[in-house]
Amino acid sequence: MGEALSGLKRSMMCGEYRESHAGSKYTVMGWVQRKRNLGGLIFVDLRDRTGIIQVVFGEEIDKDAFAKADLVKPEYCLAVTGTLVKRESPNEGMPTGMVELNGESIKILSESETPPIQIKENLDTAEAVRLKYRYLDLRRPDIQNIFMIRHKTAKVVRDFLDENGFLEIETPIMTKSTPEGARDYLVPSRNYPGMFYALPQSPQLFKQLLMVSGYDRYYQIAKCFRDEDLRANRQPEFTQVDMELSFVEEDDVIGINEKLISRVFKEIKGVDVELPIMRMPYRIAMEKYGSDKPDLRFGMEICELTELVRNSGFKVFQDALAIGGSVRAIKAGNCADMGRKQLDKLGEFVKTFKAKGLAWIALKEGEIKSPISKFLTEEEMASIINKMEAKTGDLILIVADKNSVVFPSLGALRVHMAKELGLINRDEYKFVWITEFPLVSFNEEENRFQAEHHPFTAPMDEDIQYLVSDPGRVRAKAYDIVLNGEELGGGSIRIHDSALQEKMFDAIGLTKESAWEKFGFLLQAFKYGPPPHGGLAFGFDRLIMFLADTDNIKDVIAFPKNQNAFCPLTEAPNVVEETQLKELGINLNENVELSENL
Ligand code: AMO
Ligand code: AMP
Repeated sequence: MGEALSGLKRSMMCGEYRESHAGSKYTVMGWVQRKRNLGGLIFVDLRDRTGIIQVVFGEEIDKDAFAKADLVKPEYCLAVTGTLVKRESPNEGMPTGMVELNGESIKILSESETPPIQIKENLDTAEAVRLKYRYLDLRRPDIQNIFMIRHKTAKVVRDFLDENGFLEIETPIMTKSTPEGARDYLVPSRNYPGMFYALPQSPQLFKQLLMVSGYDRYYQIAKCFRDEDLRANRQPEFTQVDMELSFVEEDDVIGINEKLISRVFKEIKGVDVELPIMRMPYRIAMEKYGSDKPDLRFGMEICELTELVRNSGFKVFQDALAIGGSVRAIKAGNCADMGRKQLDKLGEFVKTFKAKGLAWIALKEGEIKSPISKFLTEEEMASIINKMEAKTGDLILIVADKNSVVFPSLGALRVHMAKELGLINRDEYKFVWITEFPLVSFNEEENRFQAEHHPFTAPMDEDIQYLVSDPGRVRAKAYDIVLNGEELGGGSIRIHDSALQEKMFDAIGLTKESAWEKFGFLLQAFKYGPPPHGGLAFGFDRLIMFLADTDNIKDVIAFPKNQNAFCPLTEAPNVVEETQLKELGINLNENVELSENL
């Protein structure tokens, strides 16, 4: 049974005791990390989120407290009062290691069953168990540290934006489903049976309305919801640092945000971010790195071989050229001796990116080995080696296909090889702004162009002329901030001119009627003097992943969902009462099979 505090007050947090505090009486409260009974003495390590203090119980200190201390077990919640003394044998390894508390009285505030997971750093217990008992997992010091980082980062962000004239304004969580994004999470309405709210994928349209309303600079640390396939850096419910500014162009938004980044990395991690952050047009990023989020911590750039093999007799290359594709390659140093099995594995790897195969050229000591040498002339082989600047020991890896296959497969292979070869320095932070994104992309299934970002993104001034005739070549005033191969955030300058907006809808095959049906409230608002505006949103969770050095987004969210968008702790989503469904006018389809949640 738990004892009551009955007026007892905690003096300080466990981790705060130092040598200078010795000699006085204190009350500590926390959880039992471990207990050691050495016969005449019982040592209890008491833990809270600031650290651990050693408490000693002994017959000579206090008989009753000593007897009671013998009852405690790991994770019992205690209050102990006593005198802080210098330790005879200090523990240099812990901040409170110079002192210990002599336990003169003890209250067992609550007992604990044996916890199903250990409360310690670097736990390797299965994630399913950790998430089911997340409240215990959250007791672990390394996880608690992450949430202190998250808190501090939010504060640095708020302070910075406040200093720069931003107002924090909340926008609705129950809102209208709008197309052109990921799948929405829907909330059925009781007042309007058969109708639904949607949870926001971002505050995008509301922040634009706030610009129309004259708020000038808005920000929000906003919850966003997207029903998409989950990955190590994606959750269905995540947080953005979202902002919008009036009377700005790209350079203004980029400028203020790189100052924000630099402030955050300096204050939270002690890392100096060199400003201005480099910028790279989308086209260059794709050509050199095969990705719009290039990892610039290592080289191994992609090199185009198309012209060198234009007249080659190799069918694979000819097939690629025939469909308007290209032949491109990367070079891996000191890999010429890679075995057949490993090379086959690389071939399998690129196939997951839809490549049909991987050709290779190994420059071994005194000979060149390659499964495609029989298809190439000596000149062709020499020109490839020359263009790749390859030397003995190098391995050239070639993919031929349409660009939409070549880029992703070589881009991923490049990162894969760099990881395998240990070329990536985890302590390095390589930021880059990717700019000049395509405004639209062609959706082959629907046989129409669709907005790459969202339909309110402005085209670049010099490309507006192609909006109707050749939408695919129009570049957008859009920018992403990329760090070490991850997209940290993105945004754009928006269209504030209704004639241009109509052209844009035309380009993506949206009729005036359907545009008004979908976004009418925004279009109507834009009739009342919208200022030129633009903005950006950071993935706050992704930012914290970098600041806390973790690759798993679940580590930085207090109560995350698992890979199947299920919460193992609360067991959401769950079945609801028949009466609740009735009120909402919902009849479950007989064929709906209630699934076992995993
Ligand atoms: P975008 O869709 O690029 O832009 O999102 C901005 C940033 O949010 C993060 N992010 C995610 N993080 C975790 N889980 C997810 N499922 C997830 N999806 C996105 C990424 C991304 O860069 N309204 C626009 C911004 C703007 O134009 O101002 C928007 O939402 O880090
Ligand atoms: P094949 O003549 O089919 O045995 O192919 C010869 C070599 O070309 C093999 O090493 C294949 O992996 C490689 N290859 C096949 N398709 C492609 C492709 N699209 N791009 C690059 N290499 C390929």
